[in-house]
This record gives sequence, structure tokens and C-alpha cells, in this order.
Amino acid sequence: MSAYALITGASAGIGLALAEALARQGQSLLLVARNKEHLHAQALEMQRRFGVEVLIRACDLSKPLQVTGLIQELEESNLPINLLINNAGLGTAGPFLAQEWADEKQELEVNILALTQLCHGIGGLMARQQGGKILNVASIAAFQPGPWMSSYYASKAYVLSLSEGLREELKPLGIDVSVLCPGPTRTEFFDRAGMDVSPIEGSPLMMRTDHVAQIAVKGLAKNRAIITPGLLNCLIAASPRFSPRWLVRKMAGRLNRMFVH
Ligand SMILES: NC(=O)c1ccc[n+]([C@@H]2O[C@H](COP(=O)([O-])OP(=O)(O)OC[C@H]3O[C@@H](n4cnc5c(N)ncnc54)[C@H](OP(=O)(O)O)[C@@H]3O)[C@@H](O)[C@H]2O)c1
Repeated sequence: MSAYALITGASAGIGLALAEALARQGQSLLLVARNKEHLHAQALEMQRRFGVEVLIRACDLSKPLQVTGLIQELEESNLPINLLINNAGLGTAGPFLAQEWADEKQELEVNILALTQLCHGIGGLMARQQGGKILNVASIAAFQPGPWMSSYYASKAYVLSLSEGLREELKPLGIDVSVLCPGPTRTEFFDRAGMDVSPIEGSPLMMRTDHVAQIAVKGLAKNRAIITPGLLNCLIAASPRFSPRWLVRKMAGRLNRMFVH
């Protein structure tokens, strides 16, 4: 039986582009997101274009019971997973105290809890099989605090830190862990977060999903620890190390206020 790459948030945006880039290489896929119709349509399209096996599984990652159910199903089915891509994620934007708590909670459930539980559950399966790879999707937001998107930035700092920690821990078990840190990428993310990114629309700052996915897949093949697509994003990610912390906070806050109201 061929081994599958499980990709969360694979029905749109960066996750869909990652799925296509892997399908192009002949990788079998297990696509996960909430919207079953979207997943079904994407699966048919990829099977037609690339001739690969594509399974789908609808799962709301903000619901812990559904995440547990997904992991249990994988354990019982013995479906071999050679690559886990924890890509699903969302952002809340605007003043922290003005957010609905349900939205903040959903963000943390998906960006942090589901991602960690999938690393734990599927990492365990990989350790019992013949190893594997995990790619967690963070952001350049992971490298600094981000006023007016404080919980989103903090969630991505968690993803970066967890991934680097697990990379060292899981290496002896034959599991390679990498983390992808994209900068602004043209997807539905900003609309879902209620952000207006028109000031950087069409600028070199805004990358295309296929470009991000191409760089991610190359980085995975080279087993890079941290994959940051694009030179500009590499500079942005590195800059907090060379600036005083108070300035980093102020700059990030000023930038975010351009996009959130
Ligand atoms: N776009 C950017 O500028 C950018 C920059 C840096 C990092 N990132 C990160 O990249 C990742 C992908 O973002 P994107 O820009 O591609 O966003 P997107 O276009 O909004 O796509 C998000 C994907 O996640 C799925 N998803 C959302 N909530 C979910 C839930 N509760 N359970 C299961 N699946 C869920 C969505 O499908 P359903 O709605 O069908 O569930 C969709 O497939 C995120 O982790 C994001 O933080 C994005």
C-alpha cells in the first residue's frame, strides 16, 4: 500500500497548493478540512491531473472530539502516513478585547491544540511505522509579537517553538520535523480574518500560493528546519534579532494597524 501525505486545510490556499505540488511528484494524499464538497472537488481534480490516489476526510479541527476521532480512525485503519502537514490555521485581527471569545478560542484550538494533538497522534504512528516527516505551518509572525493580532502571532510563535523542539526529539525515531514560515500570501486568510490588505496587494510582499508551496516542497526534500519563502520574508523574519524589543513591538503594531480596523 502506498503511503499518504495528510494535509490539513487542504481545500484552499497554501494547503491546496502544497497538495498540488506533492501530487505532481506522485505522492498519494489524504486531504482534511471542514468543507466536504470542496475537498471532493479538489480530490477529483488532482486525481484527473496527476493520476495519484486522493482520499478525503471532513474534520472540524476546532472540535477536539473530531480531532481525536480522526487520529483513532488512522490508528485502526493502519493507513501508512509518510508526511503530516499541519497547515490549517486562521487569524483573528483587531483589538483583542473587542474579539468574540468564541473566535479567539477557535483560533487557538486549530492553530495550537489540533496541530499539537496531530503531531502527538500521527507522530506516534510514524514512530511505530518506519518514520516520516512533519511540516507545521507557522508564519513570519512567529518571530515577533504582533499588537492588534496578538493571539495569532503568539499562536505562530508556539508553532515555531514546538516544531524546533520536536525536530530534535523525534530525529532519533526517524521523524524529520520542519516548519514553514510564509509571509503574506494571496489566499482567503485575510477575508476570513476581516483584514484589508489592499495596501500591499500586487506588491512583491504578497506571494502566490504555488510559489510558497514550491519552496516548501524543496525545503522538505532538503530537510530544512525552518523554511521561509522569499528573500524579503527571510529579512523580515531575521530583523527582530537585530532590533530592540520595544521597537519590534511598535513596528509590528503600526504595520498591523494598516490592515485591521
Ligand atoms: N495567507 C497568508 O498570508 C499566510 C501567511 C503566513 C502563514 N499563513 C498560514 O498558512 C496556513 C494556511 O492559511 P491560508 O492562507 O491558506 O488560509 P485559507 O486560504 O483561509 O485556508 C485555510 C484552510 O484551512 C481550513 N480550515 C480552516 N478552519 C478549519 C477548521 N476549523 N478545521 C479544519 N480545517 C479548517 C480551510 O478549509 P475549510 O474552511 O473547508 O475548513 C482551508 O482549507 C495557516 O496556518 C495560516 O496561518 C498564511
